[in-house]
Amino acid sequence: MLERTHQALPIFPVSQSYSAAATQPVCATLGRASVCGRAIFHVEYSLRNGRTSRGRTAVIVGAQWGDEGKGKIVDVLTQTFSVVARYAGGHNAGHTVIINGKKFILQLVPGGILRPECTSVVGNGVVIDPLAFLKEVASLRAAGVKVDGNLFVSNRAQVILPYHRMMELGSENAPGRVKIGTTSRGIGPSYEDKMGRRGLRVADLLDTALLRTHIENACREKNMIAHALFNSDPLDADKMFHEYSDAARQLAPFVRDTALLLNRALADGKSIVFEGAQGTMLDIDHGTYPFVTSSSATSGGAVTGTGVPPTSIDTVIGITKAYCTRVGSGPFPSELLGAEGEDLRKRGSEFGAVTGRPRRTGWLDLPLLRYAGMINGISWLVVTKLDVLDHLTEIPVCVGYKVDGKETDEVPAQACGYEKIECVYRNMPGWASPTQAIRTFEALPKAAREYLAFIEKETGARVGMISTGPDREQTILVDEFISELGLKSPAAQD
Ligand code: IMP
Repeated sequence: MLERTHQALPIFPVSQSYSAAATQPVCATLGRASVCGRAIFHVEYSLRNGRTSRGRTAVIVGAQWGDEGKGKIVDVLTQTFSVVARYAGGHNAGHTVIINGKKFILQLVPGGILRPECTSVVGNGVVIDPLAFLKEVASLRAAGVKVDGNLFVSNRAQVILPYHRMMELGSENAPGRVKIGTTSRGIGPSYEDKMGRRGLRVADLLDTALLRTHIENACREKNMIAHALFNSDPLDADKMFHEYSDAARQLAPFVRDTALLLNRALADGKSIVFEGAQGTMLDIDHGTYPFVTSSSATSGGAVTGTGVPPTSIDTVIGITKAYCTRVGSGPFPSELLGAEGEDLRKRGSEFGAVTGRPRRTGWLDLPLLRYAGMINGISWLVVTKLDVLDHLTEIPVCVGYKVDGKETDEVPAQACGYEKIECVYRNMPGWASPTQAIRTFEALPKAAREYLAFIEKETGARVGMISTGPDREQTILVDEFISELGLKSPAAQD
């Protein structure tokens, strides 16, 4: 706890400590492993046969609309975690990590790749554009990053093909359609094909005969639909087959049954970070539908998107900026329009890492943060970009919603429901002094400490880490967070 002045019961479920988890009875599957198959109950099997604990796990999830700075926290956790597994989205995401002034933008490849001792996994919940993946791998190799033997892609991940982009462009620009403001990467149409049971998985991509048939059939169908609906030019199936069979050859060495890989890693006592993409309010079920992405960005997605059981998740870490941003269209209750919003955008360099689009900006929205806590089961919060508020003498924070003059805890199910929301603001004292690069909690100005304590009090989650600048070093780690997550203290890293 940052400040011990409040003792309110946590609103979010707080995870048990790792040691407690390790001594729990394993589960009801004990004694039935031989019936159900050794691989399925690998973790329980290993625990029963002499091991006392499986590896630790933590899910990293965006608590807002994405771009909260998840890349940096993944980077910090990989000091001691051995595996990073990405579970949703595709190359619509952009994780920026700055190490010793050198900037890396990762789109598909998990953040663990920047530590040579760490294994990185692209899980089955991800949609993968093989050309984008290979391009990212090539640029990492060129930067001297060890990729081969450290990076694995699920054989069950879905493949994005050029007709997915064609369908997305057509539908985004079609008259009468709701414009979502997507990243134009083919993400939505690829997930549509997955759910429609007509998608191509990575394992199928590597099967040359199947790939040819799939591309021929899919192109015939998609060309007809896109021509009829959007008057799009047809795509050449033969050209596509040659391009993607060549990409498949290059992708093959990375492909594994990653669910098995991850469950074995857990059974071997290795710790895993599940890396979320986008954020809670962009989740297909729980976000501001239809202005969302097409995957499960919330913590539940970590389970379905990688193939580890829900019982193996120890803790969920929610990432929030000290204020709020969103890219693309859709509701944003605490949005700042005009000069104030522009000022925050400039100070926070709020431009998309992938598309370069200017982000919309606004004040911290606590009702949404509480909602994100409830949906994800957040027990720790990481607050990023605190230093962007350094110039302010007063910081408005949205502490509640009113609809028709009445306070409500409910987040609307309909996008139009947000239009009725009136934000209730409370002005917090600003610190009006530099916090950039501060590395201890005690060194923060009193008003900044109070701002963080207020977030804790209002959400019930503990603030475990504060980011005071883009570099790996510009980070404050709270002692309890270090000990619960088994991290190295900053002093030990110097
Ligand atoms: P899509 O994921 O490209 O389909 O885009 C759907 C919505 O999610 C759009 O509003 C995008 O701007 C938004 N979006 C997708 N990925 C990200 C991200 O990584 N950060 C922030 N917004 C995103």
